[in-house]
Amino acid sequence: MSVRLIKKYSNRRLYDTQESCYINTDDLRKMIIGFENISVVDAKTGEDITPATVIQIIGELEAQADQKILTKEILFQLVRLYGNPMGAGFAEYFEKSLDIYVRQREFLRDQMQRLINANPLNFMEQMTVNPMKMWEEMSNPFSDKKSSTQEPGAEKSGAPPAIRYNPLKILVISDKISDNLYQTFNRGLFQDISFVISCGDLPAYYLNYIVDMLDVPCFYVPGNHDERFISEPPMGWTPIQNKIISHKGVRIAGMGGSPWYNGKSPYQYHEAQVFWDVQKMRARLLWTRSVDILATHSPAYDLGDIKNSRTHSGFKSYRQFLDKHSPKLFVYGHAHISYGAPRTLEYRSTVLINAFNYWIIDWDEICRRSERLEHKLEL
Ligand SMILES: [Fe+2]
Repeated sequence: MSVRLIKKYSNRRLYDTQESCYINTDDLRKMIIGFENISVVDAKTGEDITPATVIQIIGELEAQADQKILTKEILFQLVRLYGNPMGAGFAEYFEKSLDIYVRQREFLRDQMQRLINANPLNFMEQMTVNPMKMWEEMSNPFSDKKSSTQEPGAEKSGAPPAIRYNPLKILVISDKISDNLYQTFNRGLFQDISFVISCGDLPAYYLNYIVDMLDVPCFYVPGNHDERFISEPPMGWTPIQNKIISHKGVRIAGMGGSPWYNGKSPYQYHEAQVFWDVQKMRARLLWTRSVDILATHSPAYDLGDIKNSRTHSGFKSYRQFLDKHSPKLFVYGHAHISYGAPRTLEYRSTVLINAFNYWIIDWDEICRRSERLEHKLEL
């Protein structure tokens, strides 16, 4: 395939030598999507600067995307690989993994197409068995196709097989209506969701639409703007405010509201009120097992909240709950990511996720991550 040469000038302008015109990074992105074999060179020195230019494009896409591909944890892992012997061969492995992932998605898309004419039961079997098997084999490139429930080396060392957790996909939402879920509902993104948790401040019409479109169990805690739900709650949604529920083997504790700031909503609370609600919740936990997920509207104090904001600061009592009960996941909203709040954090053995807009959570991955954090704490 011939190479399409793009020259980059010192004023950062890009010149397409094939079409003899200036282009921008969006044009470059479209060429990459169209499988054009491009090469970007410095117009002055002739140095190949393709990787740096593509990294710039990825940075722009990540900044605009509703759902990030390069999470903070992935980026941290990448940085740690530089200068580390573990980094040797990673580029080749990563390239092959991405290739397998893309082919698997194409396989799933083809299967979906066959659904129109195929026996639905056969289709479901293919969907749930074969792609997962492919994915498990791909995810362990050193396994040489032995049991996917074993960690590398487990067979030789006699170590017990790795625990496989509940393979659920949990959709969490809060604070912002997503185009992907409403204006242009993207069924492909949400077809395997097991259940939904809303962390508040979303209108009833949007929540009702999500129930209709996804047809899965939905749970919510109220945000500080949800006094409207007192007279008109969202249809098909189960409130979990100050409750502990169990669904598909996952125990979820819910607490709504925000810090008090003007008293116009019954869902504004002083720290002392939240403290007692947390104590009541904890009292219930004396007789039952611990919780897996804490779902709230507001974040915990100094964990993803907005500094110097009376309205968007977190509750210290939530932090106490994390200290005492170590849920695997703490999901919350209120602190908008557009205000600078992080999407994900880790605290002790809990993974924290800000549900702003929406986020799809792989429950199995959260359980493993929490388990790793717990091991670190024990060391
Ligand atoms: Fe809020």
